[in-house]
Amino acid sequence: MKILVTGGTGFTGHHLVRRLVHDGHQVRSLDNQEGLFDKELKSLGVEIIYGSVTDKDAVERAMEGCEIVFHLAAAFRGVDLPKAVYWSVNVEGTRIVCNAAMNAGVKRLIYCSTEGVHGKVDITPADENAPINPKDYYEFSKYEGEKVVKEFKGNGLTTVILRPTAIYGPGDPGRFLMIFKQVKKGYFPMFGSGKITYHPVYIDNLVDAFMESMVSATAVGNAYLIGDEHYYSLIDLVTYVGKVMNKKFKFIYAPYWLLLWVSCACEWVCKPFGITPPLFKRRAEWYWENRGFSNKKAAQDLGYTPRIGIEEGLKRTYEWYVSNGYL
Ligand SMILES: NC(=O)c1ccc[n+]([C@@H]2O[C@H](COP(=O)([O-])OP(=O)(O)OC[C@H]3O[C@@H](n4cnc5c(N)ncnc54)[C@H](OP(=O)(O)O)[C@@H]3O)[C@@H](O)[C@H]2O)c1
Repeated sequence: MKILVTGGTGFTGHHLVRRLVHDGHQVRSLDNQEGLFDKELKSLGVEIIYGSVTDKDAVERAMEGCEIVFHLAAAFRGVDLPKAVYWSVNVEGTRIVCNAAMNAGVKRLIYCSTEGVHGKVDITPADENAPINPKDYYEFSKYEGEKVVKEFKGNGLTTVILRPTAIYGPGDPGRFLMIFKQVKKGYFPMFGSGKITYHPVYIDNLVDAFMESMVSATAVGNAYLIGDEHYYSLIDLVTYVGKVMNKKFKFIYAPYWLLLWVSCACEWVCKPFGITPPLFKRRAEWYWENRGFSNKKAAQDLGYTPRIGIEEGLKRTYEWYVSNGYL
């Protein structure tokens, strides 16, 4: 099939695009600028259109002839972006993508949301019925994006929503790289007890779920949490990282409030100068927000079974960081 992936040259997007190409699909990506993986994707025959999901003409051009759309593009990695940017890309951009998909007669649109729409969860494992409780404006905007997608359900567009947990794997430029780098130093600062839980999803497991959501008849109109089989305390997760690196390290404990205070101060000082703060509230909250979800609904409706476990996933990720000069 001819398939459009928005954000197809980003971390998650390029893995999905590679799988689609591998399975014989013809893939087009819409992305706002050149990234790390463009060259590789072009060599696989992927057509890349550069443009924003907020640009109706670019989106309509990218949509031409496509039967399936995976909508992954999002304002996500920028630190402390203005609320207007989150709104414009994650909400209005989603509306533009849905509208164009409906007008182009696309058979199915799969929207990549986030576990973050549930925010910090008190009881784990939480499922899709857990309260919607976004903790920051990014997460709020992703849920508003979900609402937009649901509006189109009534307009004849077939949709599925996935809410991945914390995605990691080869090519991940974010949180996991920081964990590996810190463990490499021989110590890991742990703010708070380290007993709160974190739910990773290895990229190949998530891509499996994307592929299943493209064909599952029962999935239509629904939203699914997608995570690895298990979630872990922060202490266990970082210990696994040390294990795959074969690196001895120590935890150094400090109160969470100290980190939160310093992060807020950093943001406050850096913001007026347009400088990216070294510490910020969203990063600090990693030590505090309990996250752990159930894959039960995805297993039932999509047939989703996470194939790659934590040690194998971290090993592959570590090898990528080493062979690409990140560690
Ligand atoms: N990573 C996680 O742990 C996680 C967890 C749950 C859900 N998600 C969701 O997963 C999706 C993919 O995230 P990711 O981790 O792969 O992030 P990513 O690497 O930043 O990928 C997002 C891609 O979208 C592009 N993009 C941003 N704004 C755009 C715009 N206005 N028009 C067109 N393209 C635009 C980005 O390009 P630039 O980099 O050039 O801006 C990037 O290539 C997002 O929808 C995110 O909300 C991520």
